[in-house]
Amino acid sequence: MQKQVEYSDAIKTKYPEQVVIVIAKDQDGKANPVTLGWTMITSGNPPMMAIAVAKKHYSVQAINHSQCFTICYPSSEMGDAALFFGSKSGRDIDKLAEFECNTEPAEKIDSVLLSDAAANFECKLVSQTEAGDHFIFVGEIVCSHMNNESKKRLYTIAPGHKLGSAS
Ligand SMILES: Cc1cc2nc3c(=O)[nH]c(=O)nc-3n(C[C@H](O)[C@H](O)[C@H](O)COP(=O)(O)O)c2cc1C
Repeated sequence: MQKQVEYSDAIKTKYPEQVVIVIAKDQDGKANPVTLGWTMITSGNPPMMAIAVAKKHYSVQAINHSQCFTICYPSSEMGDAALFFGSKSGRDIDKLAEFECNTEPAEKIDSVLLSDAAANFECKLVSQTEAGDHFIFVGEIVCSHMNNESKKRLYTIAPGHKLGSAS
């Protein structure tokens, strides 16, 4: 049996929600990481993933410029990085210069990988669609990486950007 409630109440049942960090280079070559929860796999063959980025975010400009981006699955130890990258804008600061985080160059696209993440996916931009106040970017995965060590992924486990591991 269901009761009708406000959207803002019903949507609170979504947790845990996966967290990704997406990185795209801007017109000055600065790699800009942004934390996102709204993401999904959209195709298995070829492998593709989608991300929803608010229209006002600097990342929109960076993705449009470079036409590619990295999708990182942060490990459960990377909560501080995810909160930093998800609360500051690349419009104002160089996030990777201000928050110490190990990176390495991507192999097939002009971007970087987060070395301590559970996994990294290099994506070439395939499409961009308007969806309300966000753009949905779909990327084809052209190269995949995973950590040498077994890492748990980071999730949002409760409202207010409370981060942790899901199990
Ligand atoms: C856990 C978490 C999840 C987030 N999910 C999204 C999301 O799915 N889409 C989005 O546009 N912003 C999301 N944000 C907010 C952006 O990461 C944040 O506004 C960021 O500062 C934008 O950076 P930019 O201006 O450099 O692109 C999230 C933030 C956090 C901490």
